[in-house]
Amino acid sequence: MSTVTNPFTGAYTPVAEEVTAFDLPVTGTIPAELNGRYLRNGPNGMRAEDPRPRHLFAGYAMVHGVRLLDGRARWYRNRLVRSAAVAEALGERPRPGAAPRIVDVAPNTHVIGHADRTFALVEGGFRPYELSYEIETVGASDFCGTLPDGFAAHPKLDPGTGELHAITWQRDSENLRHLVVSPQGAVVRAVDIPVPHRPVVHDMALTRNFAVVLDLSGRVGMADNLARKTYPAVWDETRGARIGLLPRNGTEVGWYEVEPCFVYHTLNAHEDGDRVVVDVVRYPRMFAGGAVDGQSSPTLDRWIVDTVSGKVTETRLDDRPQEFPAVSPAVVGGAHRYGYSTVATALLRHFAATQALEALTPEAAGDALIKHDLSRQSSTVREFGAGRYTGEVSFVPRQGARSEDDGYLLAYVHDPERGASDLVVLSAEDFTGDPIATVHLPVRVPAGFHGSWIPDPVREDSE
Ligand SMILES: [Fe+2]
Repeated sequence: MSTVTNPFTGAYTPVAEEVTAFDLPVTGTIPAELNGRYLRNGPNGMRAEDPRPRHLFAGYAMVHGVRLLDGRARWYRNRLVRSAAVAEALGERPRPGAAPRIVDVAPNTHVIGHADRTFALVEGGFRPYELSYEIETVGASDFCGTLPDGFAAHPKLDPGTGELHAITWQRDSENLRHLVVSPQGAVVRAVDIPVPHRPVVHDMALTRNFAVVLDLSGRVGMADNLARKTYPAVWDETRGARIGLLPRNGTEVGWYEVEPCFVYHTLNAHEDGDRVVVDVVRYPRMFAGGAVDGQSSPTLDRWIVDTVSGKVTETRLDDRPQEFPAVSPAVVGGAHRYGYSTVATALLRHFAATQALEALTPEAAGDALIKHDLSRQSSTVREFGAGRYTGEVSFVPRQGARSEDDGYLLAYVHDPERGASDLVVLSAEDFTGDPIATVHLPVRVPAGFHGSWIPDPVREDSE
């Protein structure tokens, strides 16, 4: 047994102010082609009047954004997403479409751009919140009346079709659902996936022909865990763990058994003849530590599903503790050579300190990024140094890119000397070289979850 302590400490200490700053100082040169916004979502503590320890996943959603234009860093903003509880706590009017506070969950997990709009996302069958360009909350969105229920934290954009795929939970059913959102932002497919035991599904993967469904060893255990104010999930390996391949235009899922495990995040997936290759960050256990989240060290693993024999081959690609796997958006659903992940020492140390990890022994002195070359089975580590915590990186292909890793990596990195954070722009090819640009933000960006580079709509230069 262990004691639940406040998770909103250290790198996760919330920030109190919403800040707007213009024309930020930059070291290096921001590539002129990077016109758009780098946005990242994350949990920012709970209500000030509620001193009870709560789970990191339950923190209010705060989006931190930097707007780049013509080689300049035009603004930094951070804004709480006005879910029902946040609007009430701030004394503001409820936003349109927001669910009643009792069932409204902070959309704190991801932020994406789609159909020239911006959405803050969370799993669990809840609607996304639409944000304005300046990341003010517009309201909860139902994709112009086309979203039947909730959306998901980790949709995947098909770079060929422009369609957004998601595996979603439903509030009123145990079934999962495969949704496809058109490039124009309307749901054009909704297919139920029967799963009677309510698996925790955080992410999915996409291939040319399949949506990859993760039905693993974590399942929703609502009543028991909510009573303890922890994440409402339990470890259950009694019913096995399996990967589902749902034809993107069909309804029958093919299921393939794997060893008991839990996966928050996929790196990518692709087809190789009759085989489907799925790369994931895999935990051998999760939600198993008694009163809190017992888990074990996450590694980068590969599943090769043989759709003829029905067998899955599981191999370890990298045994260092890591999270937040990312690939170029250009290779989503296709073969990938490179992957990027975060040696999230601050995250893992934080979990160890606040949530009683049994098996986690992070070794790195400071936070670091890993670039994986999966063709050569090699990797490169970029360390930032003690106290310089970072998180997920977003890969942005360079215009006219000549290779898969010809592009930029964007991430927030904390600078303990300034007591504030930087937006760092790295060359993915020159992974350990000096940053191309470092944008110095006026404030600290707490460690968080997921983000996106959202390019501006293509300018009409016809006048
Ligand atoms: Fe996630």
